[in-house]
This record gives sequence, C-alpha cells and structure tokens, in this order.
Amino acid sequence: MLTLLELLKDGRFHSGEALGAALGVSRSAVWKQLQHLEAELNLPVHKVRGKGYQLASPLVFLSAAEIEQHAPDLAWPIHIYDSIDSTNAEALRLAGVECATPFLVLAEQQTAGRGRRGRKWVSPFAQNVYYSLVLRIEDGLRQLEGLSLVVGLAVMQALRESGVQTATLKWPNDVLVGQKKIAGILLELVGDPADICHVVLGIGINVNMQKADEVDQQWTSVQLETGFPVDRNALIARLGLQLQGYLGRHRVLGFAELQNEWEKNHAWQGRAVSLIAGVNQVDGVVLGVDRQGALRLSVDGVEKIYSGGELSLRLRDDS
Ligand code: ATP
Ligand code: BTN
Repeated sequence: MLTLLELLKDGRFHSGEALGAALGVSRSAVWKQLQHLEAELNLPVHKVRGKGYQLASPLVFLSAAEIEQHAPDLAWPIHIYDSIDSTNAEALRLAGVECATPFLVLAEQQTAGRGRRGRKWVSPFAQNVYYSLVLRIEDGLRQLEGLSLVVGLAVMQALRESGVQTATLKWPNDVLVGQKKIAGILLELVGDPADICHVVLGIGINVNMQKADEVDQQWTSVQLETGFPVDRNALIARLGLQLQGYLGRHRVLGFAELQNEWEKNHAWQGRAVSLIAGVNQVDGVVLGVDRQGALRLSVDGVEKIYSGGELSLRLRDDS
C-alpha cells in the first residue's frame, strides 16, 4: 500500500495502467489498493476518466535524513513508523531496551494516540506531527519540576517560527490559538522518579490537518492558521532545536528561570477560571505559576497553589 502511495504522493495524475505496471499488478488490483488507501488511511483520491488517479493533495513523508539536514547538530537517533498504536507507548517500550538517550519516536499515523486521562488524540495519516522524545532522568524530581510547561514553551516557539505568531499556552499542557487547541503535550514516566527513570515527552501538533470531525473541542492546525501546507520535517527539526535549548536551560537552572517567560505567554493570565478535579470545582483568578510550575490561583482573595495531572482549567463566563 505504501508503495502505491510513493507513486501517488506527488499529487499528479497517474493512470491505472501505469500504476499497475510500476507495481507489477493488474489494474483491478490497483483499484482494490486504492480503495484500501481511502478507507484505511482516510486519504481522498480523485478519479478522472481518461486521466487516472490523483491524491487530493500531495504528501511529503517523514524522513530522518531531511530532519537531520534541517538540524544537523541534534543527532538524536530517530525511529519512524508508518503506523503505530501510540508514539508514547512505543517510546516507553523502547526505553526498556534502548540504552542511548535522548532518542525520538515519530509516526505518520497513530491508531491509539492518547491524551491525558485516557482521552483519545486524533492522529490521521501523514498530516500532523506525533512526536515522543525519550530522556533519561538522573536527579529525579528536580529535573521533572515544571517539565511539561517547559516543553510547552518549546512547542509554542517552534509554532511561532512556523508562522503561527499567535500560539499561546494554557496551563498545564496545551498550546492554543485563541480558544482553539493546536497542540497537546503528554509526559509519561517509566522507572523510579526518585532515582533513575525515563521520561517520554509526547507532543502532538496539528500541522496540515484541515478536517477532523472526531475532535470534540475547538481545534486548529498550522495550515489552517497560515494558509499554507507545512513541511513537517522542517517543523520537527525546529521543535528539536527549541527543545534542546529549553531543556538545557531547565536542566541547569530549574523551572524558576523560565517561570516569568511562561507566565508572559499564558493565554489565561489574569482571567477568571474554574479549576476542575473530577467532581470538584474551584473558582478563582489566575495569578500565574510558582517556581515548580504549579498553578497559582486567587480564590476569594487568597492565593492557593494547585498541581497534579488530573486538573483541568476552564474559562468562566464572567472572565
Ligand atoms: P484539559 O487538559 O484542560 O482537560 P483538554 O480538554 O484539551 O484540556 P486533554 O486531555 O488535554 O483535554 O486533551 C485531550 C482532548 O483533546 C480530547 O478529549 C479531545 O477533545 C482533544 N483532541 C483530540 N485530538 C485532538 C487533536 N488532534 N487536536 C486538537 N484536539 C484534540
Ligand atoms: C493532550 O492534550 O491531552 C495531550 C495530547 C498528546 C498527544 C501526543 S501525540 C504523540 C504522543 N503519543 C501519544 O499517544 N500522545 C502524545
């Protein structure tokens, strides 16, 4: 199937006969493969009598060589999959067997992409970035403090460099344009966080996605914001360089050094919000984050601190 895609990826017309000859199969076998392509990968194919078959838009596949060309100094080993359950799940599996860190797991498609609390991350084929970077953590909890917020800063900067100037952050782990989600971050740990462990920095960025009925909240993508298709390999390289810079600062100086910068880019700074933890809700005004990356809320005029992976922030109507 991917060989057929290799032939079609230029976005030009190819006759059934030419495709059959190149693949060494009959025209009806080509037809069957095309139907699979549409059904399994959700890729629309135009069929025009007398001209043949054409992908609705050209595709550029992920390529380690191209990523390295854009960021020669990074030199992280890269594993690329056509399809995987979840790049985070694969990264956690590989962390048990692969010794050299950091390493990167990427995929064209995730069949079980995951968000926080078991939610689904919609991950169509060859449109977005599904990125999991594995780091080894040696001095335990200090290196984890504020880490997901630091990753957010790197993702936001990579998006701005890609033309989305209005990308901002929402505590704890979302990147937004206005009220629309353009990227999400999911950190997962394996090992003993108080000793040596591995952390997977899972990042999903909507890049060229233009339609996704399954996403049940407001969302956008780089292409929807800029009006142009985006080279995912170049974006991945920019993201890697941003992560390298921010993670380096965080490792040496801790989150406290990035606290101000994070607050300046927080979309909901000073806004009236509700903080939701399961069935419990607290209403307050966002003051910012503390030196560990926890949320500071003014609740009835008193500053309160909140942290933990189960918390969700929502804007209040009177905000
Ligand atoms: P919060 O973190 O405040 O609970 P959230 O509603 O964004 O915010 P998350 O668990 O962070 O929840 O993210 C998962 C949610 O993201 C899914 O429930 C879905 O609504 C949404 N989502 C899934 N796939 C995508 C995607 N590709 N782009 C944007 N949003 C998506
Ligand atoms: C969220 O907003 O809830 C986090 C979404 C994280 C999605 C990314 S895509 C790459 C990596 N693999 C996964 O299964 N999830 C993360």
